[in-house]
Amino acid sequence: MGKETVIVLDFGGQYNRLIARRVRECNVYCEILPYTVDIGKIKSMAPKGIIFTGGPNSVYDESSPHYSAEIFELGIPVLGICYGCQLMAYSLGGNVVSAADDSVSEYGKTETAYDNGNPLFKNIPESGISWMSHRDYISEAPNGFSVIAKTQNCPVAAMANIEKKLYGVQFHPEVNHTEYGKDMLRSFLYDVCECEGTWQMDSFIDTAVSKIRAQVGGKGVVLGLSGGVDSSVAAALLSRAIGKQLTCVFVDHGLMRKDEGDFVENTFTKLFDMNFVRINCQDEFLDKLKGVSDPEDKRKIIGTEFYNVFWDKIRESYGSGYFAQGTIYPDRIESGKGDAAKIKTHHNQVGVPGDIKFEGIIEPLKDLFKDEVRAVGEKLGLPHDLVWRQPFPGPGLGVRVIGEVTAERVKILQDADAILRDEMDKCGYAKEMSQFFAVLPGVRTVGVMGDARTYSELVAIRAVTTDDFMTADWAKIPYDILGKVSSRIINEVPSVNRVVYDITSKPPGTVEWE
Ligand code: XMP
Repeated sequence: MGKETVIVLDFGGQYNRLIARRVRECNVYCEILPYTVDIGKIKSMAPKGIIFTGGPNSVYDESSPHYSAEIFELGIPVLGICYGCQLMAYSLGGNVVSAADDSVSEYGKTETAYDNGNPLFKNIPESGISWMSHRDYISEAPNGFSVIAKTQNCPVAAMANIEKKLYGVQFHPEVNHTEYGKDMLRSFLYDVCECEGTWQMDSFIDTAVSKIRAQVGGKGVVLGLSGGVDSSVAAALLSRAIGKQLTCVFVDHGLMRKDEGDFVENTFTKLFDMNFVRINCQDEFLDKLKGVSDPEDKRKIIGTEFYNVFWDKIRESYGSGYFAQGTIYPDRIESGKGDAAKIKTHHNQVGVPGDIKFEGIIEPLKDLFKDEVRAVGEKLGLPHDLVWRQPFPGPGLGVRVIGEVTAERVKILQDADAILRDEMDKCGYAKEMSQFFAVLPGVRTVGVMGDARTYSELVAIRAVTTDDFMTADWAKIPYDILGKVSSRIINEVPSVNRVVYDITSKPPGTVEWE
């Protein structure tokens, strides 16, 4: 492709995506490939550099991932990180000591001394904190390598063969705990690999627009638009490329936040050139959900109904030309296994039915991380609120109205949730949280309003902070903000007389209640 690329070769480390993001932040395009990738593919990509990630194994484990030592002979710079560094040392004849002697394992912030006489460390001080997480260690660097960093316990905290452009660091430069870690990565990319930094979102947009135009010609493109960040940015990008040749189909099942359907319609009809089709099927969804309270049944019904409504519309009017979707890079990478593209959808289920034959699939964001998608969205003029939208479950409020979903209960939840969001925005606290929302648990409690007894719905507030949504902490929202939210909900939403705050982390809880 001629695009300046660095390969992140994945040996199963927990930070593989973080490494890739750090590289991209330095304006260098990179791709994560599994360690099982054929060396022929690597050669054909002609990368400017290769980074070996960490991994949980010891190089001595029978099942540990290895790679042909030929990779070090290609003349392409390599940076090995943690396990990647040990593998480099082991493959090239250095000595790796296995974990038998536990006294040498290091974990956490570690004072490290750097030799600044090499390109990797030339821009950083002589010492600093690095983040270590290893048991095996390198006791001797391979022939031709010099030791370029040490810690109290680690005789080879980093090593280099400057002439062959091979570098290894036992610590993790990609994590924030490593002081100067970003400088090291930058030095590797610019001073060792001699990258030019061509990965910029402006040029990404220009290139994507030309590619879309060349692929599509005069044909039509249809995109399923959910109003989430990815499909919205894909819509904006396609609109820039082909204007009215694009048709966005938006299924409004009524299980979105308050007024969200109108917001999505206004945004795309007023700000962008395209055909916008809104399918109003709120009643149909509610009909299907009548009498259903099991969470998995609700999910299944919402997913199936969405699938049917969406594809029926496509069959009726748009079943030719190209199909576009907002697949992004993290949807495609499966750590250590490969980058097989899979159909990404609103409900993780909307594969193209067999009877619909498109000319092809367009995934204009398939190489971007989420933060890059957001940057592209901002540059294309999408509203800030949409670009920075919190995650929202595919089944929508269907899994936040606990128990049976009815029009009345959806409205109660939407109103309560809108108050919560309004207050969070006003006090500026919204930015501090990864996700927050209201839940309608379906519990009634006794209260007193004026002089009268009430017996009404309870609303729960859920708010979390997290990096990856795999684990999450409950957010420590100040009491005065919670108090304001509570009294507004009770005063402004009829049929709610009590508000509680969910203080469960994940695990043991999940973020959503269903
Ligand atoms: P949980 O509840 O599993 O949520 O801790 C983690 C994150 O995933 C979102 N979520 C969903 N997203 N379809 C989606 O597209 C779903 O069915 C779904 N369920 C949960 C949730 O909002 C949180 O951000």
